[in-house]
Amino acid sequence: MSNKKLVFSGVQPTGNLHLGNYLGALKNFVSLQKEMECIYCVVDLHAITVFQNPKNLYDNVLETTASFLATGLNPDKSIIFNQSSVSGHAELAWILNCVSRIGWLNRMTQFKDKAGSDKEKASVGLYIYPNLMAADILLYKATHVPVGADQKQHLELSRDIAQKFNKDFNCKDFFPIPEPLIPKNISRIMSLRDATKKMSKSEESDYSRINLKDTADDINKKIKKAKSDSNSIPGEIKSLENKPEALNLLTIYSELTNKSLEKIVSEMAGKEYSFLKAKLAEVLISEITPVGKEIQKLLKDKSYLKKILKKGTEKANIIAEENLKNIREKVGLI
Ligand code: AMP
Ligand code: TRP
Repeated sequence: MSNKKLVFSGVQPTGNLHLGNYLGALKNFVSLQKEMECIYCVVDLHAITVFQNPKNLYDNVLETTASFLATGLNPDKSIIFNQSSVSGHAELAWILNCVSRIGWLNRMTQFKDKAGSDKEKASVGLYIYPNLMAADILLYKATHVPVGADQKQHLELSRDIAQKFNKDFNCKDFFPIPEPLIPKNISRIMSLRDATKKMSKSEESDYSRINLKDTADDINKKIKKAKSDSNSIPGEIKSLENKPEALNLLTIYSELTNKSLEKIVSEMAGKEYSFLKAKLAEVLISEITPVGKEIQKLLKDKSYLKKILKKGTEKANIIAEENLKNIREKVGLI
């Protein structure tokens, strides 16, 4: 087996990217670029597992691409492209549909959450979504996958699929078993309105999240309105156990200031949450608004964004075709 390290990750083009995507995934994508070869994919085939307005879908692909670039992904270093333009993803997904087991998919909690109470009405694509995710990763024989904690279960399934393929087709080490890279402290950023739910693009209230395109004014308003606690900030993390909103705000602040949560809590002990909120809004504005402005600027030049995707597609296709040739051979599809 080759020792080559290769990073792969994907983000769905389903609307505004937010602080959860930024702290849980994008920041990590950018720092990994310095250490390894990286492939970052706008996963439009994943997005259509839930109906997308066709007119908006391509705009969202371009906006997600702009967000990648605005947070610091470098298209000369990393491969940046959209999934549907490399047909190998869909082809390998079919092969992996035949390797993956129904029992494995039945355990996926994201399907249960997204399908809601009427599972019979969910698309078949939504159900087999994790097999497509495994195909994304294995198509490039990626070794490392940076994601937020919500994707941990899907990553475990990808590992199981890789292992079963290697065993079924008697090709030990053919697919590397991909390692998840999940940020330790902020693996899951929670909603600003209800910290039992993760911050998400699909949550109805815009006050639940900080979008990368939010203005300073939006950020100030949202942080002011964010749920916290009526008591003052306690001196130890343990006392925050039953106060998820307060813990979420302190965690976000700790991450953005690169200080440990312990340090932040001890610095803020005894202060009111309004004090934390003012500080938090300040760091958010200085880190997020320049990204938002860059996204807006990039979106003015759609042909540039399309060019980036085209170049990325060409590079991705070369790797994908070579690997697919070997995969087809292993399966006996000659
Ligand atoms: P998605 O927008 O669902 O395609 O997610 C893109 C990336 O952002 C994935 O790696 C997710 O795990 C990560 N992510 C999404 N929401 C959050 C969140 N609230 N906290 C941390 N990471 C997140
Ligand atoms: N399922 C991931 C999400 O919703 C996106 C994704 C698709 C992905 N394919 C991937 C992430 C491959 C990592 C690797 O966030």
